[in-house]
Amino acid sequence: MSTAPPSQRRRIWDAPVRVFHWSLAACFGALWLTREAQRMDLHAAAGYAMAALIVFRLLWGFVGGWPARFAAFAHSPAAALRYLRQSMTGRAPEFLSHNPAGSWSVYLLLGSATLGVVSGVLLIAAEHGLGPLAASVSVLVAPTIHSLHEIVAWAMVALFCAHIAGVVVGSLAHRQNLLLSMVSGHKDHVPADLPPVRSRALVAFVLALGLAGGLYAYLGASGWNESYATLRAQSKQDAAAMVPGVWGEECGSCHLAYPAQLLPARSWQRMLREQDAHFGESLGLKDERLAELEALALDPAPARWAGATLQASVAPAESPQRITETGFWRERHRRLQDADFKSDWVSGKHDCAACHADAFSGAFSPRLIRIPTIAAPP
Ligand code: HEC
Ligand code: HEC
Repeated sequence: MSTAPPSQRRRIWDAPVRVFHWSLAACFGALWLTREAQRMDLHAAAGYAMAALIVFRLLWGFVGGWPARFAAFAHSPAAALRYLRQSMTGRAPEFLSHNPAGSWSVYLLLGSATLGVVSGVLLIAAEHGLGPLAASVSVLVAPTIHSLHEIVAWAMVALFCAHIAGVVVGSLAHRQNLLLSMVSGHKDHVPADLPPVRSRALVAFVLALGLAGGLYAYLGASGWNESYATLRAQSKQDAAAMVPGVWGEECGSCHLAYPAQLLPARSWQRMLREQDAHFGESLGLKDERLAELEALALDPAPARWAGATLQASVAPAESPQRITETGFWRERHRRLQDADFKSDWVSGKHDCAACHADAFSGAFSPRLIRIPTIAAPP
């Protein structure tokens, strides 16, 4: 660098790459902020937007300005490690495009973002029968995919931190503000005789328009922005099938007639056996009614994701009497405060339907979660 011919401040990053870079960062931030189940609609939209951005970047890696092309930063893993070692001793050479370590942070971020999108699409298919792969992924693999999706998200957080650290170290080592160069596009120490970097704005515009249009059309066709009221009305339709008459009559007078799939059969058998001491109440059920109820409790195959996962979180030797004490229930509600369960609108943790408009059907779609407040009654 010190022996280099006359150098100056010149543009290296074309505008599309910069817009891509900050859009991806914004998408990632949005995904993080919407990771709770109630924000799943926005989360999915941000995920699809991320998919479009990834496609854009992959294409731009072949047709963009030369520093943005993959060919300009195709470094081996060994080169990346060598570069990191050189950085430690302050002897790392300067690169016009991404340096070898930086290029690997680009590959890994793009790769993990892709994995994040793929696992997210698999996840909504497995858990809720939503998205492009709806009904082709079994509920039984949902917990595995859920863990995978979380691991990918945390890996992205780690990569993101490493990326920031790399930018700081690189900026200090080469006395140039790499963060700002991703805003202005300009870098210092660029050889004066370097051919100018063309923006190819028209190509980028057409590409972006195509991808954004595709995204818009897909989201529209997938019913992504269906209103809460519409979804709630739809969910009522399958409630009858989920809660057979007798069950609803006997168990729905004091609280929600909990769909039988929310606890293992042995829990219900025990509850019916101990019907005289039902949380301080006596149910006073006659023998034949008990038999009918037991048959209903034993019958349902846990077809829905919530039920299947709740049941799977109960140890085989246990027969819990509360859904709200199962591992899965506690895990999914860990972010809620005690106050959320005690208000004018919610009578307690057991009051599923206060927050889940589809509780009676056992579906527990993230799109129908609303913690009721005074400001917006259910
Ligand atoms: C006479 C009123 C009454 C009837 C009828 C009744 N329950 Fe309950 N049930 C209660 C009360 C009270 C609670 C405790 C609620 C709380 O947490 O404060 C409860 C709690 C439950 C819970 C635990 C909810 C949790 O916290 O996870 C289950 C499961 C349950 N009942 C199932 C049934 C079933 C099945 C039937 C029909 C066979 C039934 N109940 C009928 C009064 C009733
Ligand atoms: C005070 C409101 C409230 C009550 C009462 C409540 N939930 Fe929830 N539930 C939520 C919220 C909010 C979430 C999402 C939490 C998050 O993602 O951090 C959630 C998440 C869930 C999920 C996971 C949804 C998903 O897509 O990840 C299931 C399943 C669920 N609840 C079942 C139940 C059942 C069964 C009951 C009753 C025994 C119940 N909930 C009672 C508010 C409530």
